[in-house]
Amino acid sequence: MDVHARLSLVFMLCGLFKEGLSDSCIGRCGEGANKAYNCQCNSACVRYNDCCSDYDALCPGATCSRRCGQSHDTTKPCQCNAPCVTYGDCCSDYQSLCQGQTTVDALSAVMQDLWNSDTNRLSDSDYTINTTGSRLFTYVNQTALNKTTFQGLICLLDNYNIRVGQTEQLTTSELAEVDDFLNTILATAVMTKTFNFLAESGYITNSTSVFRDTMMELWFNLYPRSSNGTTDSSGFEHVMVGELKGTKTVSGLHNWIQFYLEEKNGNLQYASFLIRKEPNIIAPAFFWHGIKKTKSPFFLGTSPEFDMAVYSICCLVYRDSLCKFTLQNQAVSIQTWDIVHKSGYQVASAYHKM
Ligand SMILES: *[C@@H]1O[C@H](CO)[C@@H](O)[C@H](O)[C@H]1NC(C)=O
Ligand SMILES: *[C@@H]1O[C@H](CO)[C@@H](O)[C@H](O)[C@H]1NC(C)=O
Ligand SMILES: *[C@@H]1O[C@H](CO)[C@@H](O)[C@H](O)[C@H]1NC(C)=O
Ligand SMILES: *[C@@H]1O[C@H](CO)[C@@H](O)[C@H](O)[C@H]1NC(C)=O
Ligand SMILES: *[C@@H]1O[C@H](CO)[C@@H](O)[C@H](O)[C@H]1NC(C)=O
Repeated sequence: MDVHARLSLVFMLCGLFKEGLSDSCIGRCGEGANKAYNCQCNSACVRYNDCCSDYDALCPGATCSRRCGQSHDTTKPCQCNAPCVTYGDCCSDYQSLCQGQTTVDALSAVMQDLWNSDTNRLSDSDYTINTTGSRLFTYVNQTALNKTTFQGLICLLDNYNIRVGQTEQLTTSELAEVDDFLNTILATAVMTKTFNFLAESGYITNSTSVFRDTMMELWFNLYPRSSNGTTDSSGFEHVMVGELKGTKTVSGLHNWIQFYLEEKNGNLQYASFLIRKEPNIIAPAFFWHGIKKTKSPFFLGTSPEFDMAVYSICCLVYRDSLCKFTLQNQAVSIQTWDIVHKSGYQVASAYHKM
């Protein structure tokens, strides 16, 4: 046999050998990336989309079967809770098995519990709206707005430059207002229940300081709204205060207290009424600083902690998708979005889909 023939035999045998194992994780679970094979068998393969087809079946713990929502488990090659999306270490069957696994029932149960615990919510007699007049809010009981979480929210409303593209600069005292507000809402039963639900279902670590950090990041850490822009926005500013984009667009503004106060201050003109839906959800059209928004849904009369709790749960459980549940026997659908061009999870928007 000449050298040439011998070499090609070696190549052929190697080829056969590789061929036999190249599509399988047999004996390879957890092995580092190996270019000699066509597919891989470690948790990174999920991210790179090059797992062998038998990876889920063969590699122990590589599947989300019976693990949906479980806390981060370092003994497992991949994870099955919402943060895995951020960290890129979800098991390959996470999407198919787990999204939707935090069942509508479990979600509805916690949302109803939050509603029942929202003792700060205004009673029906504490406010009146007139959907056919020129003003939406015709009466609000001022004493009912005097609660600490309401006052904390109201303090924050004037901290932001509402124009998209203009850099936010929060002063030391404004940052202290953020801290105070966060402390105040985190002390409510609504937020305690929110934390318990998120920790028990594995969406966050079981630590109140981690919960506080998570809320800070979701709502208050500043970010650039456009991927190449200046640091001009935050989840709180967008959802609770509202933003103006150019001369034609109002975006965000999904909080009834901000709507009421801006209407009272003459910055907002109610235009028409679109939808009212129980429980306490309305979607009016209005002008804000002269710019029209054709539909901006929000909860009416609820406390700031309730709105932020509901949106936060939807963000963490149904990131970038529809969060559907029932509340007071009514179907509710909330859409949330993450700011994708910044790592971590900052709320880009959160609103009722209707
Ligand atoms: C609502 O406003 C309209 C127009 O101003 C008025 O005619 C009507 O009486 C008001 N309705 C109530 C219930 O106050
Ligand atoms: C709000 O509370 C303060 C004291 O905390 C009180 O002086 C004030 O009268 C209250 N305002 C209303 C409208 O109840
Ligand atoms: C206004 O709200 C306060 C506190 O919630 C309550 O005690 C009071 O009775 C309400 N006033 C009216 C007129 O309903
Ligand atoms: C969270 O920690 C507390 C103690 O800090 C404990 O009582 C509770 O059972 C833990 N919950 C979960 C879901 O691990
Ligand atoms: C960001 O990029 C977009 C197009 O990609 C451009 O229209 C916009 O002016 C840029 N903004 C800034 C602040 O550079």
